[in-house]
Amino acid sequence: GDVFTFDPGFTSTASCESAITYIDGDKGELLYRGYPIEELAEKSHYLEVCYLLLYGELPTRTQMEDFERRVTRHTMLHEQIHYFFRGFRRDSHPMATMVGVVGAMSAFYHDSLDINDPWQREVAALRMIAKLPTIAAMAYKYSLGQPFVYPRNDLDYAANFLHMCFSVPAEKYEVDPILAHAMDLIFTLHADHEQNASTSTVRLAGSSGANPFACVAAGIACLWGPAHGGANQACLEMLRQIGSVDRIPEYIARAKDKNDPFRLMGFGHRVYKNFDPRAKVMKQAADDVLGLLGIKDNPTLQVAKELERIALEDPYFVEKKLYPNVDFYSGIILEAMGFPTSMFTPIFALSRTVGWISQWKEMLGDENQKIGRPRQLYVGKPRRAYVEVENR
Ligand code: CMC
Repeated sequence: GDVFTFDPGFTSTASCESAITYIDGDKGELLYRGYPIEELAEKSHYLEVCYLLLYGELPTRTQMEDFERRVTRHTMLHEQIHYFFRGFRRDSHPMATMVGVVGAMSAFYHDSLDINDPWQREVAALRMIAKLPTIAAMAYKYSLGQPFVYPRNDLDYAANFLHMCFSVPAEKYEVDPILAHAMDLIFTLHADHEQNASTSTVRLAGSSGANPFACVAAGIACLWGPAHGGANQACLEMLRQIGSVDRIPEYIARAKDKNDPFRLMGFGHRVYKNFDPRAKVMKQAADDVLGLLGIKDNPTLQVAKELERIALEDPYFVEKKLYPNVDFYSGIILEAMGFPTSMFTPIFALSRTVGWISQWKEMLGDENQKIGRPRQLYVGKPRRAYVEVENR
């Protein structure tokens, strides 16, 4: 038969050409369209980064204003989608709700389903960037039993998300600029990460010609797993479970034990073998935000820092090149902002949507684009004759 390269987990196979994001795992370098993540985190903001990822260049002032107008035009959801939410149990995980609702967008926005029409592709991208925060916030409100809060287009992207999550109609709510800034930073740090599992899922789904909402729903489903985006929720729950600095050695020992499935959540990365540049920015941000909010001696942050310190000196983690990743410190900030752990992965999903959609768009524009169709090494039974039931 045919001869194939066997590469389980795709550790050495490039599945596509891409001009969007660059990672150098040894140097701990991450570039969006050539710009270092540290600089974007400091000087840019999420919607500008969205523009950069989607169109390849930083926008001029006019281009930015135009883009902002085009995005905010789409922040509302079709009113009927509200009824769709009501079909879910209140205690559904918001990721479960999001997979369903984002997939269902293909039943509402019929004028952005034709993937061969560039205008429809563009509108699909704008709709997704604009509506994902609304959907995530609605999933949260629904879980609380509170009324949905409509978007406010006079607020910027991150502030509007906080407004939809935390304001209630009976009370005046003003978005704290410290929180809005931290939220924007978290969105920016998660915006894209080249061919990770969920992005590869979006590309694979898109390679068959599936509509963009279906593709992003597939990406959300993949992101949910604890080895991927689900790690931010799992990490904070782990830090809470550890609870105090004196219990860290017990958990380090468990993480090293081959017979124990436990892993340090928020640690390790397929590509980064030196450090994750996003984690560095996130750690600093956690310190800054907690400081600005006047939260002193946060026990979770203390456990996290001490866990990092001990792990980085331990030969097991040193030899395996395991470092804190983006999910290690993000949860501490989100917790301080008032989010429950179940909202951590939905926030990752809404931030990554621009990356998914930029990669999807790039793929459709690639003249070498074909359906993704991995082969396999068959290890099952050879051909054999059917056995009648009475002879089995
Ligand atoms: N704790 C303890 N041991 C670990 C960990 C960890 N977090 N991560 C990897 N190892 C060990 C693993 O047991 C293996 O040991 P051995 O070679 O003796 O079998 C070795 O390190 C290599 O691990 P691997 O699973 O083969 O590496 P991978 O590249 O397939 O997996 C990973 C990468 C991120 C899935 C993994 O490090 C992990 O499960 N980490 C915890 C979950 C997590 O934080 N995920 C978030 C990833 S970053 C962004 C995101 O997607 O959200």
